Amino acid sequence: MKKLFIKTYGCQMNVYDSARIADSLAPLGYSAADAPEDADIVVLNTCHIREKAAEKVYSELGRLRRLKERRAEEGSRMLIAVAGCVAQAEGEEIVRRQNAVDIVVGPQSLHRIPEMIARVERREGRALETDFVPDEKFDSLPASRAEGPAAFLTIQEGCDKFCTFCVVPYTRGAEFSRPVPQILGEAQRLVDAGVREITLLGQNVNAYRGKGPCGGVWNLARLLHHLAEIYGLERLRYTTSHPCDMSDDLIAAHRDLEKLMPYLHLPVQSGSDRILDAMNRRHGRDHYLRLVERIRSARRDIALSSDFIVGFPGESDEDFEQTLTLVREINYAQAYSFKYSSRPGTPAAAARKQIPDDVKSARLQSLQGLLSAQQHAFAKSCEGLEMSVLFERRGRKPGQAVGRSPYLQPVHVDDAEHLIGMIHNVIIARALPNSLGGTLAGARPKAVAVH
Ligand code: 5AD
Ligand code: SF4
Repeated sequence: MKKLFIKTYGCQMNVYDSARIADSLAPLGYSAADAPEDADIVVLNTCHIREKAAEKVYSELGRLRRLKERRAEEGSRMLIAVAGCVAQAEGEEIVRRQNAVDIVVGPQSLHRIPEMIARVERREGRALETDFVPDEKFDSLPASRAEGPAAFLTIQEGCDKFCTFCVVPYTRGAEFSRPVPQILGEAQRLVDAGVREITLLGQNVNAYRGKGPCGGVWNLARLLHHLAEIYGLERLRYTTSHPCDMSDDLIAAHRDLEKLMPYLHLPVQSGSDRILDAMNRRHGRDHYLRLVERIRSARRDIALSSDFIVGFPGESDEDFEQTLTLVREINYAQAYSFKYSSRPGTPAAAARKQIPDDVKSARLQSLQGLLSAQQHAFAKSCEGLEMSVLFERRGRKPGQAVGRSPYLQPVHVDDAEHLIGMIHNVIIARALPNSLGGTLAGARPKAVAVH
């Protein structure tokens, strides 16, 4: 039996892709290794979104080279593959920087990995594939397998928006939507295998335009309505959305579909019109605020999440202040914030007015202070409520189980291990720093020992 170790960086899309890579190598006799030391092939599935993410890959490759040399001294062979967005963006440059790498494969060519391994094993030299053929990828890769009751399902890839800071349109290519029947089939198989919650994935998931079963094009709202019909599938989510693609029927789906969870990741990046314009976001501050109002009137309790970039070239103190006021106005349940990172080849990288790192750090700190206070206040507001929890895994304490609330918060519950894979109501007892703690609703209180 051969062993495979995959290390995944970056977004949920990469998590989905890594699982597909593992599935495509299983028929060749590869099973999962616990550590690179035990593996015959190590795959780094990489992320290029910020410089730090890409640099981490090179330091990991340095470690792997030493491991590979040690293994060679012991007479065994270990292959190193770099997959994903760094592979796509840097191609041959990776091999120049680290010649221990055997395989370089972009995110649209992952289905070629088995054949690439075979080529390298036959000692035909290195293998490098960075073509853009997404339909071939999805036709050739095995469909996802269930690993627990909550699963990801990629329905769309790539991006045509070209925000001026972002590498995605270059690394993942143009927007591509998988056809509806392929998605419905994959969803049904996941449900048959015990999945109760599916998160639909796409770089621009709400721009989904997939070919329907009888011709015609379906949008995300229509797809969600059909997925909601699947018996046994209890929860639906989707991520990541662009504000310009929140169509009326998608907003209405949040009102009409009980299975669509009340949580929406809707990145805004900045609260300043001037910066939004320079970012080529195609919407202004007011557009976003009005959009949030419409979404909230469709689903009052929806929990909103966002991404922010601080220190975009030319961002003044006033621009940054506008981001803070937008955050105060919206009141987020959850958010991610980053210092702007200049990415080679993107328009913003060439902008003259880059912001010094100490200014970026100070802005990030004050934004994160505000966002974490909002996140904590949201968690506090859940105390005392009864909410449904899909239990996904065991907790640290014996008997404890951890699941997700409708608002995507992790929830820890004692004596709930037997409920893993199921949905059960929980009374939220306390807000912890990054999760909630609760007790099963309807559970009889434990007898108290009397001495
Ligand atoms: N610098 C910093 N953050 C970035 N993001 C994308 N590109 C960059 C960049 N060059 C952030 C955006 C996006 C999230 C996935 O990563 O906020 O929404
Ligand atoms: Fe990048 Fe903008 Fe596309 Fe999102 S919408 S993937 S930030 S280019």
